[in-house]
Amino acid sequence: MVASAQGGGEHWSSRTAFVLAAIGAAVGLGNIWRFPTLAGENGGGAFVLVYVLCVALIGMPMVLTEILLGRTGGGRADAVGSVAEVAERSGRSRRWSIFAGVEVLAAFLILSFYSVVAGWVLYYVWISGFDFLGALFSGSPFAPAFEHLTQDQVTGLMGALFGNPGQLLLQHAIFMAVTLAIVASGVHGGIERAAKWLMPAFFVLLVMLTVYGAFTGEFGHAVSFLFTPDFSKLSPVAINEALGQAFFSLSLGSAALVTYGSYVPGDVRLAPTAGMIATVDTGVAMLAGLMIFPIVFSAGLDPAAGPSLIFQSLPVAFQSMSAGALIGLAFFVLIFFAALTSSISLLEGPTAWAMARFGLGRKVTALLVACGAFLIGGACALGYNVWSDVRPLSFWPIFANADILDSIDGVTGKLMLPLAGFGLALFTGWRADRRLIEVESGLSPAMFLLWRSLVAWLAPVAVGLILLFGLFPSLLA
Ligand code: TRP
Repeated sequence: MVASAQGGGEHWSSRTAFVLAAIGAAVGLGNIWRFPTLAGENGGGAFVLVYVLCVALIGMPMVLTEILLGRTGGGRADAVGSVAEVAERSGRSRRWSIFAGVEVLAAFLILSFYSVVAGWVLYYVWISGFDFLGALFSGSPFAPAFEHLTQDQVTGLMGALFGNPGQLLLQHAIFMAVTLAIVASGVHGGIERAAKWLMPAFFVLLVMLTVYGAFTGEFGHAVSFLFTPDFSKLSPVAINEALGQAFFSLSLGSAALVTYGSYVPGDVRLAPTAGMIATVDTGVAMLAGLMIFPIVFSAGLDPAAGPSLIFQSLPVAFQSMSAGALIGLAFFVLIFFAALTSSISLLEGPTAWAMARFGLGRKVTALLVACGAFLIGGACALGYNVWSDVRPLSFWPIFANADILDSIDGVTGKLMLPLAGFGLALFTGWRADRRLIEVESGLSPAMFLLWRSLVAWLAPVAVGLILLFGLFPSLLA
């Protein structure tokens, strides 16, 4: 066993526990809400192709990089401490850990708005739950959804929710409280246990709904939409968007993988695990597309509807589907599970850092971090109603029209995640002690060379370009 992983702190009880928790972190709203939305808006196949290339060439190597940094600096159990430790053992400045600090801050900020969006999901779990119960008690469990509402009333549900600050804050608070309860129970008793139940349940639901879509909806249409590339639709902005989405979806640049990596026992081989996380995450995004687009096409809806695809278009589709009430409920429960395992790791990263930094216990620290994220998220929620004309970054052209939530989403996704990834790729590719990471990676010499070249050259260049064009899109025009 590698001595560094023995340094104390908490550990996963098995490799499976780690893999499930890491996949739980990766699979989330990014796969089921953001990926189909982006693919729909950017013309389908061509975007999907670029996305897959980004994951294979940059995302997967970076997943290994982050887990490896976490375990090599293990015993620190937090992202900043881990990177500082690896830097020190490589005879380099501990200041490289500033990039891990960016990750911790990014995770905290993502958590704040993630919980708001997950709160919307939770709201749809309630309403589709009551709808299904109504259908069940009236003796028709396979009835379509929302039989007593008109189509306008169904699309109006989202607007009514957004216009109600109390309801939004309540949903946000409930979701954050559930996340907190799990993280406060520890790596072993909380995070691991949640992942072991929620992820299998998630996969069962995902497969069921995709099979349902394959038999009832316009599955062939969805397949050709997602997998036939139309290169005329491939703008530079879409490429940029694909790389950013790969980072977000794999939970890169946001402390999760470094922190989870620090809990990995020394005898677990990291490279196959990293490959598996990236493959499963991408597979789930594809399945989510294959689950959503058949329904969208068979109901004659617009695949490019944007963020309202899931909260407005799909409920309308469920309204005209047999068993729509049941399918709708299963669908929102599925998204809720995915969001919860992600928010857990969004809270864990900053909590682990704050525990190490301030020396307080897990429960108090998690509570303080969650309260902070709740307050910022609360501002995001109010940005849909009482503060709807607030544009926090109006001075910055690309964010000039962004409301509070979109501003935080934009700054984290377009600036902080790429910046952290850029720094850690440079560190690992050029500065970290070669022998140290070669042993830790467990890769064969040839694979090690390939991986290190991708991390040293391709990742910094490509990610540097995202940063540049993400922040100054006029350079592309
Ligand atoms: N990957 C998550 C998703 O697809 C979102 C996310 C980004 C995340 N960074 C993270 C989750 C860090 C956990 C930890 O929904």
